[in-house]
Formats: sequence, structure tokens, C-alpha cells
Amino acid sequence: MSADAVDASVVACADPRLAEAVQYVLANPGKQLRSRLTLESCELIAGKVIPAARTIATAIEWLHAYSLVHDDLPAMDNDEMRRGKPTVHVVYDEATAILVGDGLQAAAFRLIANEVRLSAEARIDIVALISAGVGFGGMVGGQALDMAAEHATLSVASLQQIHAQKTGALIKAAILAGARCAEATEEANQTLAKFADLIGLGFQVADDVLDVTQTTAALGKTAGKDQVAEKSTYVSCLGLEGATQEAERLLQEALTCLDYFGEAAAALRSTANTMVKRQY
Ligand code: IPE
Ligand code: IPE
Ligand code: MG
Ligand code: MG
Ligand code: MG
Repeated sequence: MSADAVDASVVACADPRLAEAVQYVLANPGKQLRSRLTLESCELIAGKVIPAARTIATAIEWLHAYSLVHDDLPAMDNDEMRRGKPTVHVVYDEATAILVGDGLQAAAFRLIANEVRLSAEARIDIVALISAGVGFGGMVGGQALDMAAEHATLSVASLQQIHAQKTGALIKAAILAGARCAEATEEANQTLAKFADLIGLGFQVADDVLDVTQTTAALGKTAGKDQVAEKSTYVSCLGLEGATQEAERLLQEALTCLDYFGEAAAALRSTANTMVKRQY
């Protein structure tokens, strides 16, 4: 999601190098699965995409983009390719990459705060659930656990917690934020939360599998890097076959949750399939 759909001043900055680096990230938006989830969960509940949900979807993509810029830093996964292009710290420098991430995070919350088509209460709820998703109990905490688990042998339960936090939590927030835009009932929310937990985990298990089965050209990011870094992944824990089966099991369980919504969940079902069966 580019900044075009929103007020561009939210990502404007006086430093030309930083401004250029931000545009470098936003101009290459990736698969945009999380924004798709936000819009589809909104549509599922409201019967249509509420325009304000597009702002929330953009904010979520910016948070995701920030997480990738930081994930690729030398101090973290030390990756030189992302979305088919050199990473931000390679094209610019580490300080710029850190600031791009910091700034995108702030800009995402500014977008939400400025979305006056949502009630103040809805905006606060959405900020609360997304900030929890990306915070210490969610994505950031999960990234710390992921780093600490390098060179270690983990139980599936521990690995599940890492994956649920580092990746699942933002995906869950994306789904629930869309539902909040549409004022979903508590029952619908709980059903979507269960779906989100399963598909968020399934998505990261699929990422672990793709790291070993795909080429760098297909992924647009360096293949085979988890093994080199001795990361704890579902593949290192369960083997390739076991991890592939686990991703499929999680997908089927996630799809079962959507039965509650019947035909109305067709779009979410399709996205869930893509998230686990994707080739990159
Ligand atoms: C990559 O996410 C990072 C993980 C959480 C596994 P995506 O596979 O959604 O990356 P983009 O946004 O399409 O580049
Ligand atoms: C990334 O997990 C999770 C976040 C960015 C929060 P990975 O480190 O496995 O993602 P890739 O494989 O680099 O995209
Ligand atoms: Mg990582
Ligand atoms: Mg990484
Ligand atoms: Mg990975």
C-alpha cells in the first residue's frame, strides 16, 4: 500500500535521504496479505468494505514493513534482499533503516488517530489492539524470543509461542481491526480470533517451509538462511514433511472456524489458502 491513498504528509520528512528511504520501502509493498485480511474481515461483518478500514489496512502494512526493515538489519537476521531488492540498510545505511522503521511505526498510529470517519472509541480500540499486537507481548517480544532461540533446540510448544508472537500477533490484529471497523459482535470476534491464531501460525510455518523449498529468486529474499543462522523453525523441529503437514493441519482448522460465517467468508477462505499454500 503506497502513501498515495492517504495523506502523504504523514510520511513527509525534512531529511531527503530518510524521505527517499521511506519511499523506497512504500513503493515495493509485497504481497499485502495483512491489509487484505483487514478489508476482508471488515467486509465479512459489514457486508462491504468501510472506507476507513482502508486507512487501518494501510497502517497495518506500514507496521509490517517496519518490522521487515528491522528484521533484516545486521543486528537481527542480517539479510541483504527483501521483496526482490536490496534491503534498506544495504541501499542506505543502518541508521537510516532504523529510522525508517521507527518512523513508519509512528506514522501508522498517526494514520489511525487521524481517521475521523471512525469514532474516537473505535480508533482507541484499534490502536489498543494493534499496539498490543506489535508490542512486547506480540511481534517485538516474539522477535526477541526468535533471536534468543538461535542455535538452540526448542519444543514445538516454545516454537509455537515464538511464531504466534513474532508473526501471528500482527496478523490477528489485522483481522480483528477490520472486524472492529465493522462493529462485529463478541461472538463473531471470538470466532475470528480463533481463525486468526490458527492462520497466523500456519502462515509462519509456511514461511519456514518456503525458506528451505524455494529459491532466492522465487522468494525475493535469501532462501536457506534459517539453517545457516541455526534458527529454530518448524522445519528444524519437525522436519520438512512434518512442518508441511502441520501447516496444512493449521489451515484446515482455520477454515473450519470460518464455517460459522457460511458463504460470506469466501474471500477470507481464499486468503487463508493463499497464506499457507503460497509459493513465495
Ligand atoms: C514476511 O511476511 C515476514 C514474515 C512474517 C514471515 P510476508 O511474506 O507477508 O512478506 P511480504 O509483505 O509479502 O514481503
Ligand atoms: C519475520 O520472521 C517476523 C517479523 C518480521 C516480525 P522471519 O525472519 O522468518 O521473516 P523473513 O523470512 O525474514 O521474511
Ligand atoms: Mg527474523
Ligand atoms: Mg528474517
Ligand atoms: Mg522466514
